[in-house]
Amino acid sequence: MSPAVLIQNSSQLLTFAGEDHPRRGKEMSSLGLVRQGAVLIQDGKILAAGVKELVLSRPEAKCAEVIDAKGKVVLPGFVDSHSHPVFAGPRLADFEGRLQGLGYAELAGRGGGILSTVHGVRQATEAQLAAGLRLSARRFLEAGTTTLEAKSGYGLDLESELKILRVIRTVGAEGPLELVPTFIGAHAVPAELKDRPEEYLRRVCEDMIPAAAREKLASFVDVFCDQGYFSLEDARRVFEASSRAGLGLKIHAEQLSRSGASRLAAEAGAASADHLDFAGPEAIGALAAGGTVACLVPGSNYFLGKPYPPARALIDAGAAVALATDFNPGTCPCWDMRMILSIATTQMRLSPAEALCAATVNGAWALGLGKTHGTLEAGRRGDLVIYDAEDYREIPYYFGSGGALLTLKGGQVVHRAAGFLP
Ligand code: NIG
Ligand code: FE
Repeated sequence: MSPAVLIQNSSQLLTFAGEDHPRRGKEMSSLGLVRQGAVLIQDGKILAAGVKELVLSRPEAKCAEVIDAKGKVVLPGFVDSHSHPVFAGPRLADFEGRLQGLGYAELAGRGGGILSTVHGVRQATEAQLAAGLRLSARRFLEAGTTTLEAKSGYGLDLESELKILRVIRTVGAEGPLELVPTFIGAHAVPAELKDRPEEYLRRVCEDMIPAAAREKLASFVDVFCDQGYFSLEDARRVFEASSRAGLGLKIHAEQLSRSGASRLAAEAGAASADHLDFAGPEAIGALAAGGTVACLVPGSNYFLGKPYPPARALIDAGAAVALATDFNPGTCPCWDMRMILSIATTQMRLSPAEALCAATVNGAWALGLGKTHGTLEAGRRGDLVIYDAEDYREIPYYFGSGGALLTLKGGQVVHRAAGFLP
């Protein structure tokens, strides 16, 4: 047994202790806030968290290594439930072109868009892609994220998609950032099959999904269900193939149009429906009534200058909302959850408490990890952040710079800000 770690004297400890289900509606405002609280971790798991006297009464606290969080906020590590982090470099020509007013189709016509990243990823070796993902993983940890969903989707053929998933497995196994792999072959139709999209979908459903499942390379399958990409009927087929293979379901829903994808997700029991920019009353009703988490990625709206999804209406209707970065080279080159919290509060009018719940507990539920991740309670993973703030509301209030002073994954210090000596 390794010595325990005791984090004490925080000005505010946010435990998010509560019921074992995604937090919806008013539950999203419940922080489980303890003043001067403490957390005791041993062998990767939390032994006790909460009121200092109770935590210190545990015998393991006696010889624990002490970390002093005096005057700081302690909260669960962020669980970022949507990202596309395996790519081969930024898309700077797209960035400049968009600033000059070019649309998605024009950028694609100039050799940009998703397919340009596919070109780069197909050329890259596994080692090159792994080096890029390692660098990103470090940045996520520095920003306070301890668990990250990681999608494929820039390979678009069996070999290249499996290559990406193997990269995710390799870097995830190295740690310390925990990666949850998602296969999204149905991200776009590759150029070589642009006139035979039905054949590509057949390959996704009959070849790639079974292969990813057989090699245990994916936990979830996602599909970009939207105008110009994959139809509702296509998404249904992807869901059926995924369920047959025993994989969880996710969907890029109503990002570009009102498509009915949210209802499909709720009916199919998907873990999350993501983006939701065009979600209308029907989609909001379906998500509020079902168990599917509404995962919002407002960094992409910010970066593209597009209207934000109806976050307030979703929460007020009783949906469980998660917040994620959508880190990718095309629509959101941001790994910093603090920036997402800033956007969620100032642009979508989530309260600071709702936004933090969405970035921790509900992110965990969007990945099917709600019973082990996302809260600071006895038995949960020892994943937490000491944040450079005395009051939790400062986390979304200040923006434009990281604030994670110390990040712990499974009780181990995996990031320490320069000059922070707890
Ligand atoms: O989440 N919508 C699909 N996929 C990404 C963008 C991918 C890209 O442009 O490279 C997204 O926005
Ligand atoms: Fe995405």
